[in-house]
Amino acid sequence: MEAQALKQALDELPRVSLVNEPTPLEPLPRLSAELNRPCYIKRDDGIGPAMGGNKARKLEYLLADALQKGYKKVATYGGLQSNHARLTAAAARKFGLEAHLFYFEPRPETLKGNLLINQLLGAQMHFIPYVGGGRRSLSAADFLVHQLASLHIGRHYFIPVGGRSVLGSLGYVRAALELHQQATAAGLENAWVIVAAGTGGTLAGLWAGFTWLGSPLRLMGIDVGALWKDFPRSIAHLATRLSARLKLPHKFAANEVPLIESEYATPAYGMPSKAGNHALQLLARLEGILLDPIYTGKAFAAMLDLVAKGRLGTQEPLIFLHTGGLPALFAFEDTVYSTP
Ligand SMILES: Cc1ncc(COP(=O)(O)O)c(C=O)c1O
Repeated sequence: MEAQALKQALDELPRVSLVNEPTPLEPLPRLSAELNRPCYIKRDDGIGPAMGGNKARKLEYLLADALQKGYKKVATYGGLQSNHARLTAAAARKFGLEAHLFYFEPRPETLKGNLLINQLLGAQMHFIPYVGGGRRSLSAADFLVHQLASLHIGRHYFIPVGGRSVLGSLGYVRAALELHQQATAAGLENAWVIVAAGTGGTLAGLWAGFTWLGSPLRLMGIDVGALWKDFPRSIAHLATRLSARLKLPHKFAANEVPLIESEYATPAYGMPSKAGNHALQLLARLEGILLDPIYTGKAFAAMLDLVAKGRLGTQEPLIFLHTGGLPALFAFEDTVYSTP
């Protein structure tokens, strides 16, 4: 479909403004020399309030819905270093909403990284230690937290984990259009686009957007958490529901999801990896750009490994989508800085 028609379909839906679009697509000259092919980075790291990140694009649609429905409180949850929870708290403040954040772990002695920022924002943090969670029960957890939040705070707008919903993913359909246009203008149509996948909402939006546009960009999601049961199926399902929402009927198939599942998700969700820390230091030292240790560092390490193994072709340009997460750098200082 025409870019203009997709833009129009997106513009018709309620959206608040959190992101300064378009985000820059920057060349990485020293990495390009190292890898012997053009390398770029799409800067979705600084977007939105309080140190930003990819969730800002999702929250533009989610908070518009909350405001339109007259809610005064929003509730969500995540791991202790959830960037999504922190950005929800910051964006809620911007629109005069009260944010409640749920964590299924004991309150840490010191609040670091994202938790420290939540505290500065005056977000209500609820630490409810709960044994369970994990790969099999995440979608059920959405339901449970919703119930729990009703009990604790009354009427609230519930935002699923990671802002993963049809409304949230619309933000990344919008980003797909933006990146498609930037890549075309820069002559990078055949590039690989590499992105970290946690809940898969970002990947689903990009995939749906590129598909509808008939974009030649080659998308590759890197599962960094192994969080979800039947991850490809759930991403295909989300992309199909997005189609219905935008009245662009298309059935997305689980066996076509551009995702490398589990391979780079070690040691576990929310835990830095040696390869990720190494990649983080490499990009910092080559280009002066910081990644985070639990999403983008791991995805960047995966990209380097895939290049070394010849799994991303040989000459195609690479576009790394930087999805943010920087506050977590200050929660893992021991591991991040201990590798040489
Ligand atoms: C910094 C960062 N990058 C990537 C992701 C993955 O996004 P998604 O949950 O949409 O897959 C997240 C959140 O989960 C994140 O916080």
